[in-house]
Amino acid sequence: MSDDKNIHPVFNRLLQRSDKEKLLKQRARVIWLTGLSGSGKTTLAIALERELHNRGFLTQVLDGDNIRAGINNNLGFSEEDRTENIRRIAEVSKLFLDAGIITINCFVSPARAMRELARNIIGAGDFIEIYINASLETCEQRDVKGLYAKARKGEIKDFTGIHTPFEAPENPAAEILTDRQSIEESAQILIQTIEPLIRP
Ligand code: ADX
Repeated sequence: MSDDKNIHPVFNRLLQRSDKEKLLKQRARVIWLTGLSGSGKTTLAIALERELHNRGFLTQVLDGDNIRAGINNNLGFSEEDRTENIRRIAEVSKLFLDAGIITINCFVSPARAMRELARNIIGAGDFIEIYINASLETCEQRDVKGLYAKARKGEIKDFTGIHTPFEAPENPAAEILTDRQSIEESAQILIQTIEPLIRP
């Protein structure tokens, strides 16, 4: 832990977020996709980012697998490590917010407390929670990365949905049922939810 007395933030001398949002002609937000591994978060984030890009918005996708290969490569999947994973992501997202940029975050973030932590760090008004909902059966059937099979064999521990719970969001801005809706349909629902919140 650093000694707070030796830290001198310079926030008050920086250009404001509003200056950057004006430049970019958008309102920055954090779009937080939560759901089981294999529910379709990353696929939808890619589709959504393309749609938003085509409409002239500047975005950045933050994805569990990428972030865990870099800034969070010292973290595992215990509750404590996942909480730290989410805390760092939320702080990074806040930096993007200050730059006026919309982030699309794809993290399992299985516990309500973890998402509350993120909401508190980011600020409730800037945090848009989206539930990417596919049943465990569907995710396990898809098993795109082969992780469910490994989890069933005991080769991976603490796997969300198998050994540890996923707590569904209680009041998400949108819920996408990816076992029933196509990627295109899902992306359109997301656009309709999000565009009014990011257009100046
Ligand atoms: S979180 O729970 O801390 O939010 P995060 O989204 O960063 O998780 O990472 C989840 C991804 O890591 C999954 O999509 C999967 O590919 C991989 N993974 C590896 N081990 C686990 C595990 N035990 N539980 C869940 N996902 C895991």
